[in-house]
Amino acid sequence: MALQIAPSILAADFARLADEAAAVPNADWLHVDVMDNHFVPNLTLGMPVVEALAKATDKPLDCHLMIEHPDRWAPGYADAGASSITFHIEACRAPILTAREIRAKGARAAMALRPATPIEPYEDMLSEFDMILIMTIEPGFGGQQLLDACVPKIRRTRELLDKHGLDVWIEIDGGVSAYTIERCAEAGADVFVAGSAVFNADDPSLVVDNLRSLAERARA
Ligand code: DX5
Ligand code: ZN
Repeated sequence: MALQIAPSILAADFARLADEAAAVPNADWLHVDVMDNHFVPNLTLGMPVVEALAKATDKPLDCHLMIEHPDRWAPGYADAGASSITFHIEACRAPILTAREIRAKGARAAMALRPATPIEPYEDMLSEFDMILIMTIEPGFGGQQLLDACVPKIRRTRELLDKHGLDVWIEIDGGVSAYTIERCAEAGADVFVAGSAVFNADDPSLVVDNLRSLAERARA
């Protein structure tokens, strides 16, 4: 599948989200970080903002839920207008049922892994998901440095997916920039989230193009 770039609006101006979305017309997704100040030590936005943003842009929304009790909340984000919903496996009691509920509402379902969470225990349930999000930082804040210790997990996840012949995307999130994207693409990532690298730049769309061509070259 083609590589995809998902700018994270965590680094955008929250008072001008529609304009910020319009500044990256060449992006494949808009990545929306939902934080509840329990699963991570930060608080961002929730369903009403997702609902408003879905009406204000035609980009599909890739909602990354860093929240407790995703079983209770995740499927509702599909009704709010998210096209892809990612919940953390560490917080979820019934990941298979939650993924099925999300898919039944017509959205893509993804599981996210914190840096210290291994992929191997979840091998048998990979087919229940459309995407695996491998965090390359500790979730909670943008602007951190990519943790190189997370890169081998991208490769192992790709090997497991290939072994089972699964068309499941691998997304990486955290510290993605022109300096770090190539090693992640080379390891097998498909979808690249970038917050500060995109929205702190003078020309966000230029960064999106640049990240895409670096990743494509690294993968080739
Ligand atoms: C952090 C979020 C990321 C964040 C990445 O927990 O999940 O999506 O926006 O920001 P950068 O790209 O600045 O590391
Ligand atoms: Zn995120």
